[in-house]
Amino acid sequence: MRLADSTVSQVKAYPEIVSVVSEYVQLRRRGRNHVGLCPFHSEKTPSFTVSPEKHIFHCFGCHESGDLISFVQKIENLGFVEAIVYIAEKVGIEVEEDASSSTYDPESELRKRLRDILVIFKEKCQHYLSGYPEGVSYLRERNVNEQSQREFCLGYAPNSFNVLKEFESLGFTGEECLKAGILFKSDNGDLISRFRNRLIFPVLDYQGRSVGFGGRIFGSAQHGAKYVNSEETPLFYKRNLLYGLNSAKRGIKAHSFLLLVEGYMDVIMCHQFGFNNAVAAMGTSLTIDQAKKIKRFTDVVYLAMDSDEAGQASMERAYEVLSQQGITPYFVQLDTKDPADVLVEGGKEAFQACLESAIPVVEFQFLRLCKRFDKSKIEQVSKIVDGIVDYIKLEQDLIVKRHYIQSFSRKLDINEELVMAKMNKTSYNVSKKKFQYIRNAKTKIELAEEYLVGFSALNVSDRTLIFSEVSMADFKSEDLRVVAQVLKDSQVVGKDVLGLFESGSPQKLVGRLLIEMEEDSTLIKQKDSQIRQCIDVIQSQKKGIRAEELKRKIEALERSGDSDEVSELLLELQEIKMKRGTMDG
Ligand code: UTP
Ligand code: MN
Repeated sequence: MRLADSTVSQVKAYPEIVSVVSEYVQLRRRGRNHVGLCPFHSEKTPSFTVSPEKHIFHCFGCHESGDLISFVQKIENLGFVEAIVYIAEKVGIEVEEDASSSTYDPESELRKRLRDILVIFKEKCQHYLSGYPEGVSYLRERNVNEQSQREFCLGYAPNSFNVLKEFESLGFTGEECLKAGILFKSDNGDLISRFRNRLIFPVLDYQGRSVGFGGRIFGSAQHGAKYVNSEETPLFYKRNLLYGLNSAKRGIKAHSFLLLVEGYMDVIMCHQFGFNNAVAAMGTSLTIDQAKKIKRFTDVVYLAMDSDEAGQASMERAYEVLSQQGITPYFVQLDTKDPADVLVEGGKEAFQACLESAIPVVEFQFLRLCKRFDKSKIEQVSKIVDGIVDYIKLEQDLIVKRHYIQSFSRKLDINEELVMAKMNKTSYNVSKKKFQYIRNAKTKIELAEEYLVGFSALNVSDRTLIFSEVSMADFKSEDLRVVAQVLKDSQVVGKDVLGLFESGSPQKLVGRLLIEMEEDSTLIKQKDSQIRQCIDVIQSQKKGIRAEELKRKIEALERSGDSDEVSELLLELQEIKMKRGTMDG
């Protein structure tokens, strides 16, 4: 698709960056800017900053920077054109196409074709299922009703489904089907259907777009894994997806918690029985990306994992990543293997009872440890404490943390201080120190260079002044020099400056500077004197270098005896010394 320039420019000029970003990040006002926890890296104190005036964001932790468009590209995993369309549709800007426009990106184009392939494949499989009595009866046996089949777009890929041929006849290439993940390449280079004689569970992203598939084995004569899933493709990032999230969005709001289960079948059965807040991490342990996505919808997660050892392990992992996002995980104990079994065997009431007796994971772990060790023996009490501090220390809320320390110490009949001592021994935070170090370590010259580039990004007349007094060679920092050079030849100001750079370290640097200038109100208020001071710092430093050079030359000339030139150089040195004296004072 080629986008009309008017659409692109309207989206670029759209002023409400804060309202769009707020859908992903809880922001609060701090001075002129808004801050929140960065969605692009894990952090506990907010360093993600949005400037409503400059219409840009910057994270002081991971250095990610950009405008609304690049934010949406990154968080939604979209190409440039896709991001423009996405924002336009969200905020009510009309999307117009223009065949002669230059706003076209091949990556977005390819993705669009891949999306088409995925939708067609999904629909074809749904169609095949309806004509395949064994598939229908298998689902009936598993208690999946017709409404669920429709809601989750369940389908069937028969052996006879010649994917390559059918898609070629629709104008797609084998290569495209390969990229969409519905074919794979055999060792001798043939393109082969990935899903054959399998029930198809389409995976939709949280906006309901097809991104990939899971295929369940059925029929007795088949070998191979129980489920085959799409390979990672440009659209299918498993670590970012939660099966069922699209259907569960409303349920999560209504129940005020999310129900995390393990399997495709569990999600479908939960929804069918009215637990429409269920999602699954699709056979892998919960990732940080998935936990962040969850955090956008709720702060409370019920973990209803399979009741086997693997389920216990994924529960522990889920606890860890969810706590880090400030989410409270509850543990749901199941009497049978998985939530689907509980529902089919005991009905809605049985599962409801499991949910009602759910307790916070920390408390569950405490009870488990108390069962494993003997509280009446002091060495074993120590083991219980060792086991439980690993969980307590992940709790983000200080009041809740304190509560656990008190409650468990009382139950073990030991002093709270002991629990705290064990906890502090095992916890430390490296990353914070590292960032502080970087931020404090700047010298006067580094700061002056940064501020000058920052000021010159803000308006053209200051830029002209600055670059008439400071030359490119004066910049010691390579990135700042690159940015300065680009600015010098440009008339662009404010957030549009970001557009002058490819994403990379100069662009991130500009993003940070624009936000930093905003944060520090005295900088802007006393702009002219600040600029003067910074220029002086640079020039004084330059003169210092020249002075050293002069001294060396004078020494050399004195040895060779050329006194005329010596006195000239001495004069220059004297002048520099006088000027530097007045500057530094
Ligand atoms: P389960 O084996 O518990 O599957 O694996 P299930 O969804 O409960 O299915 P039924 O009830 O046996 O039919 C849990 C999840 O792990 C992933 C799938 O996402 C599955 O839903 N998995 C499992 C795979 O990706 N590959 C496999 O071979 C097995
Ligand atoms: Mn299962």
